[in-house]
Order: sequence, then C-alpha cells, then structure tokens
Amino acid sequence: MESILRVEGLTKYFPIRKGFLGRTVGSVKAVDDVRLTVNKGETFGLVGESGCGKSTLGRCLLRATEPTGGSILFRDRSGAELDVGRLDKPGLRNVRRDMQLVFQDPYSSLNPRMTVTEIVGEPLICHGIAKGSELRRRVVELIEMVGLSARQLDRYPHAFSGGQRQRICIARALATSPRFLVCDEAVSALDVSVQAQILNLLRELQERLELSYLFISHDLGVIRHISDKVGVMYVGKLVETASTGELFERPFHPYTEALLSAKPIPDPRRKAERIVLAGEVANPANPPSGCYFHPRCPYARDVCKTAAPPMKQVAKDHVVACHFAGELQLRGAL
Ligand SMILES: Nc1ncnc2c1ncn2[C@@H]1O[C@H](COP(=O)(O)OP(=O)(O)O)[C@@H](O)[C@H]1O
Ligand code: SF4
Ligand SMILES: [Mg+2]
Repeated sequence: MESILRVEGLTKYFPIRKGFLGRTVGSVKAVDDVRLTVNKGETFGLVGESGCGKSTLGRCLLRATEPTGGSILFRDRSGAELDVGRLDKPGLRNVRRDMQLVFQDPYSSLNPRMTVTEIVGEPLICHGIAKGSELRRRVVELIEMVGLSARQLDRYPHAFSGGQRQRICIARALATSPRFLVCDEAVSALDVSVQAQILNLLRELQERLELSYLFISHDLGVIRHISDKVGVMYVGKLVETASTGELFERPFHPYTEALLSAKPIPDPRRKAERIVLAGEVANPANPPSGCYFHPRCPYARDVCKTAAPPMKQVAKDHVVACHFAGELQLRGAL
C-alpha cells in the first residue's frame, strides 16, 4: 500500500522561559522522535492521556506548529514526496490545500458573525479556487456532502447544534479538496449518539473522496471504531504502533495494556470521558530516566530506570518500545 505521509524523527520542544529577560531554562519535550506512516485511504488513530503531545504532533504535520526537527514527507498529487518541513511560504500554502485540520470544539472554531456560506466559502476565496456563481455551487455541494441542506446556508453558527456545527467545520475543511485530514478530538465534545453520526460521516467521506486521516482522540472506543492503525503516545513518544485489531487484542506495551484496562470516567468539564490510570503522568519538562513509563509500570525492572527502550518490531507493522516486548503476557481488550 502506498503511503501518503511518512514522519521520521519528528520532534517539538517548547522552550521554558524564566525571568523578565525570558532566559530559556529548559524545554518541554512535547513530541520526541516520533516515527509513523499513514497509508492512502487509511485512518491512523493517535491515542494517549491528556498532555502527551497528540495535538502538538498533529499540528506539526501541517506546520501549524513549527517542528524542532525531523522530516515530514507528504505525497503530493503527482506521487512525489514533499518534505513539508522544508517548504517555503508559497509551497506551504499549496500543501495546505491538501492537508487540513478539524478541531475538537465546533463552538469556538466557527466565527459567530459569519454565515455558513461565508465560513465554508472562505477557504475557496483565500486559495482563489472559486468565485461568483461557481463559489455558491461549490458551497452548496460541500454543505450537502456533510448532510446539511442548502436552506441552512444563510444562518449563523448559533442556530446549529454541536453535531451540525462539527459538520460545518468538516465542510470547511473539505472546501479545498484536501487528501489528508488531521482530526483532533473531532468528536470529543459531542454526545455519544452524535459522535457516532459524525464518525460515520467521516468514514463515508473517506471512501467517497479517498481521504486519509490522522485521527486524534483520548477515547479508545472512538479510536477502535475508526482506525486502521493505532499509535499509542506517552510523554511525547510513540510507545506502540500496530493495526487496530492487533493492538486491542494483543498489546505488547505495558502502557497500552494499562490504557485498555482503564475504566473511563466522565469529566463534566469536558463533556467527555477521561482515562485515569494509577500513578502520575510524567512531566514532559522533566521526564523520568530510562523508560518514561517506569514509575507507573507494574513490570519495571532495574534496566528500565536507566536505559530508554529502543523501538522493536514484534510482528509485521507492529513496533513497541519496551525492554521486555514479547516476553510479558499482557491482556488485551475484551
Ligand atoms: N504552545 C505551547 N507552549 C508551551 N508548551 C506547550 C504548548 N502547547 C503544548 N504545550 C505542552 O506540550 C505538551 C503536549 O501538549 P498537547 O500536544 O496539547 O497534548 P495532548 O493534545 O495530548 O493533550 C503539554 O505538556 C503541553 O503543556
Ligand atoms: S521498558 Fe520497562 S518500564 Fe518501560 S514499559 Fe517496558 S517493562 Fe515497563
Ligand atoms: Mg490535544
């Protein structure tokens, strides 16, 4: 299968500044040496606890956040791989027609003073793709594609429900006919029944438009439903990557096992559920020595405190960063 995106050694360090001179006193390793591949027409699910670097990783792919290092190779329409990290401004503008972001919160990401027509039409105007009657025709097409009706075009965002707003966000993201979407917690703010509708819409659109997704979520149920492959992230690093079936049935990393066994608890602030594991998440500004997971890992031995585990391939398309990958008997999800 052909890849659409290949990421290697991707790193994002945020400087920590102190004092009024803004001296740099350290850094938050939000994304640390990440390697992943997304194949054409597939969904790569990225999962991990809050603060582990998922959004930063997603934003780095489009350079909405400037990465510190690594390569981001994106296959363009001609089949050539572009190094997104090295593109100049016009090059980046061009590639952004092909790569779009869909955010978590459809309430704050839509301008309340713009009509649906203006919101969905804006990228078409910005990129000089359509104007006049062609613009109108395309906006109608997009809005119908996401399951809304042309009669709703002159309304403002407040007239819509959360699910409908997320549909508007998706229509806007699709305006430039992208081939790759980063969906960052795109359904996390929605009620469960509405979540399922939006996930189904994303799947239909994926088939119809041959889209590839990086789908970010802290919700394992959502990730399992939508992903072909899954990457598990812990403190800036991918600790396990595998096909969805394998990852859920036969995890090789103790952190994956812990995530799969955790009971999500409702979080009233976020209108969603949160995974809560025993022990504290490591601080990316001051991570533990050796394997970052060792203070919370029930299988940790001495070597885990001193040596960072290398990435090991345990099966085809299944890689794990644990000293004892393959030796431990871990439980999957039921
Ligand atoms: N603009 C920023 N400046 C400094 N630190 C940031 C910035 N954005 C994110 N971080 C830090 O990077 C880490 C990863 O954050 P984020 O990517 O938002 O995680 P997630 O999406 O998995 O919840 C966190 O420790 C967060 O505080
Ligand atoms: S390397 Fe050690 S501490 Fe890290 S996950 Fe594996 S067993 Fe646990
Ligand atoms: Mg996030």
